[in-house]
Amino acid sequence: MHTTRSSHTRSRTRSQQWFERAQQSLVEGVNSPSRGATVYTAGPIVLERGQGSHVWDADGNEYVDFMMSFGALIQGHAHPTLVKTVSEAIAEGSHFAAATSAEVEAAERFRRMVPSAEVVRFTNTGSEATMLVLRLARAHTRRRKFLKFEGHYHGWYDPYLLNAHCHTPDQLGPVENPARIPDSDGIPPSTFDDVVLAPWNDVAALERVMRQHGHELAAVITEPIMANMGCILPRAGYFERLRELTRDSGCLLIFDEVVTGFRYAPGGCQQYYGVQPDLSTFGKALGAGFPVGAVAGPRSILERMRWSENMVLHYGTFNGHRLTMKVVAANLDLLSAENVYGKLHAVGNAAIAGLREVFRRRQVKAIVQGFGPMFQIYFTERDAIRDYRDYCQYVDTKLYSGFVHRLLDRGIYMTPSNGLHWIISTAHSDADVQALVEAADQACAGLS
Ligand SMILES: Cc1ncc(COP(=O)(O)O)c(C=O)c1O
Repeated sequence: MHTTRSSHTRSRTRSQQWFERAQQSLVEGVNSPSRGATVYTAGPIVLERGQGSHVWDADGNEYVDFMMSFGALIQGHAHPTLVKTVSEAIAEGSHFAAATSAEVEAAERFRRMVPSAEVVRFTNTGSEATMLVLRLARAHTRRRKFLKFEGHYHGWYDPYLLNAHCHTPDQLGPVENPARIPDSDGIPPSTFDDVVLAPWNDVAALERVMRQHGHELAAVITEPIMANMGCILPRAGYFERLRELTRDSGCLLIFDEVVTGFRYAPGGCQQYYGVQPDLSTFGKALGAGFPVGAVAGPRSILERMRWSENMVLHYGTFNGHRLTMKVVAANLDLLSAENVYGKLHAVGNAAIAGLREVFRRRQVKAIVQGFGPMFQIYFTERDAIRDYRDYCQYVDTKLYSGFVHRLLDRGIYMTPSNGLHWIISTAHSDADVQALVEAADQACAGLS
């Protein structure tokens, strides 16, 4: 089936009917703009079912899924172990908002896999984790300000929503003093008074900003691999210098591993790159499709949430949701099996190599950036995209969208948004890679 997927997708009549209906009740017919007609220009493809690495839409069209729920589905769709886990657990009740053995089992496995996690606190989403981590950092350091990098996305909490979207180069201001562009209406400008903004992946800029602001920062928060402008890797030595500078300034280093956690290595990118952050946040792959986030770090910091008059408040009816905790524990067991990460990297690297070969042979000016389980295609004349400014200036995101729409017509499911990234799950096979490479080859013909 994989190798014969050369014909165009059959009709999308049912998707279109659902989308029309959806717009009566839902803003833009969806629950997040990244799923709607701004991104999927012909209207969203309504998905009905998933199994392994494949999904089926409302019209019965089949696709190999490389979006994988924005990276949440590290085990693919409907993994039999997780289906069994959920079926059994829900028969005993979904959630008690009480102490459970399930949350203990999830936390123990988490700690075994993530070396910096002396203790962990579960939230319901990545955004909640990044909200909490900032509150903890501020309480711990008794400082208000924090540093975020241009182009990094840390969820939709007010203070993070500065320069997380792409803009035209003339809007960005000088590197030494970046223009501060809010990503959302409805945020009081004073919210950003405590935000220091800096370019990423630039040691000189980092040293400059830390000299000026280091002493007043509660934390520096960074994505270990920039995953919301595609897939941008840190330069060699960048994190080592960041670690030194944060330590010297008495501010905390936060790794936002919501995308990278449990994806590159059992202990996330901090383990892969050998950098020990003070605090980290997780989400997505942790829950294998169930909504969950986590803040992890030393007891000395997380204990500030312990009940007292001066505690850092973190409540939540659904924290440590029992069903989700069961899934987390089962998922982490699956990820702890032998050579899981070796296979994720090998399948991803094969996809990257295959795509590069297609672009070379078809003489399409495109690069594939990233490695192993996560990567992105950039249509660009450059040989690398190193930061937010490169992305805003040199990447042809319209061409990418056109390319992905052609892939969608050829049985490959992916978001046409260039800011996201291709995801390899444990369910992906060599045959899926071959299907991708063949579809990409066809999609390149006549691309302009
Ligand atoms: C790096 C990063 N942090 C935090 C978040 C927020 O996670 P969630 O969408 O689960 O709220 C995201 C979401 O894409 C993310 O990419």
